[in-house]
Amino acid sequence: MYLDFKFADDRPAYIQVKDYMKRLMTTGALQADQKLPSTRELSVLLRVSRNTVLSAYSDLEDEGYIYAVKGQGHFVVPSVSGVSVQREGKRLDWAPHLNDYARLAEENDLMKHGIRAEKGAISFTSIAPDEKLFDLQNVKRAFLDRMSLEGEVLLNYGYAKGYKPLIDYLLRYMENKGVNIQGKDLLITSGFTEALSLVLSTLNQGHGRILCENPTHHTAIKNFKMHGYDITGVEMEPDGISLTGLARELSKRPYDLAYLVPSYHNPTGIVMSHQKRLEALRLLNEYQIPVIEDGFNEELRYSGSHIAPLVACAGGENNSVIYLGSFSKILFPGLRVGWVLADKTLIHYLESVKRARSIHTSTLDQSLLYQYLYNGNFEKYLKRAKAEYKRKYELAIRCCEEWIPMERLSGDGGLHLFVEFGPDFRTRELLAACSAQGVVFTPGDIFHTDGGGHHTMRLGFSRVSDENIEKGIRIIGETARKLLN
Ligand SMILES: Cc1ncc(COP(=O)(O)O)c(C=O)c1O
Repeated sequence: MYLDFKFADDRPAYIQVKDYMKRLMTTGALQADQKLPSTRELSVLLRVSRNTVLSAYSDLEDEGYIYAVKGQGHFVVPSVSGVSVQREGKRLDWAPHLNDYARLAEENDLMKHGIRAEKGAISFTSIAPDEKLFDLQNVKRAFLDRMSLEGEVLLNYGYAKGYKPLIDYLLRYMENKGVNIQGKDLLITSGFTEALSLVLSTLNQGHGRILCENPTHHTAIKNFKMHGYDITGVEMEPDGISLTGLARELSKRPYDLAYLVPSYHNPTGIVMSHQKRLEALRLLNEYQIPVIEDGFNEELRYSGSHIAPLVACAGGENNSVIYLGSFSKILFPGLRVGWVLADKTLIHYLESVKRARSIHTSTLDQSLLYQYLYNGNFEKYLKRAKAEYKRKYELAIRCCEEWIPMERLSGDGGLHLFVEFGPDFRTRELLAACSAQGVVFTPGDIFHTDGGGHHTMRLGFSRVSDENIEKGIRIIGETARKLLN
């Protein structure tokens, strides 16, 4: 005993001694009522100072692990000894205790079952921002600014609806996008993904059916499945969802909800035209279907004119659009801050669902983001990031056009491109062959709602260097040609 104590330089010594002694007691190496070495003995055995052991023993006594007997020393409290190695007790089989919600989450978990990139591989699977662009100095300053202003407030409980200054900022931000905020309200969430889950948990499932674009965001598909929805995907055209397809599906059967990604759609990168936005809204409104608008990528426009989000296009009495915003692509996904802008009545209920679920999104994250935005950093950062992404975007397009024997390439902006080969092509086979050469991408089938898309793939370029964009796309292209011959 005591020979396996490993001292780490970066943690207070007395805490290390305390934790080590706790482990000896809970594993039963030190038995109930057993006498501990004296502070002097232990300091020699563990090669730490006597003061270190004194502090450790004092804390262990405070925490109820040991007791002192005057003139005799310290002893192990009986209820502590051996708790982690109790012999009685049968093993519980967890499988029958897991519900379908959890099973679907696991089955559709791409981090566990998706494409794995070997170390050093060129990976086009990510559409996360390039962390090399993050302006850490301004983030640090924003954190210190806010903490010095109201650190105590930020560290206590906040409000389910969100941090008020951030809510007000985002309301103005949405107004600047042309949204009439009359009759609407805003709730802060932990990113788009939580917002979607809150909305799905809040709305009635009368028919159990949801409409969306086909293909669409994999995380959305996963959440629809987990909530038991039947998913109908409507085919895409170069300027967004097919209106004929949408009208066809709407006339066929009733739906509870629609989910649309009108700008820089994931995975196709397509931007829905303004005219289409108006017509899609008119159609969905006619059938009185709430529309979840995913505005995650809206700012990543490199050319063409600004197109207002659906929530701004919905005119007159139309209060059916639930806008879900996120800073995950345009700023820092690690902060996990997103928002819902929707009709006041809906936000009233979403606020309570959010409170029941998680109380609120971390106020520290929200206030840091607010201060960063308030300090005027966002505009500067976005300009710089967009210039970099635009360059990579244009390079990736040039490489695809030069090397890949494709039928169609789409992507009007954002952080990814979408490639379609001839209908008989199998991108899973291409992936296996490319992976063996150290290049991976996301096969398009995972985004499809109808089991299709075997001939498609998504190329995320944001975190790939210029050199690797050229090299990787060349390898994909050359390998595809071999498979075609
Ligand atoms: C279509 C779409 N919406 C939203 C998001 C952002 O989700 P979150 O805010 O939860 O990070 C992503 C991220 O990849 C996405 O692809």
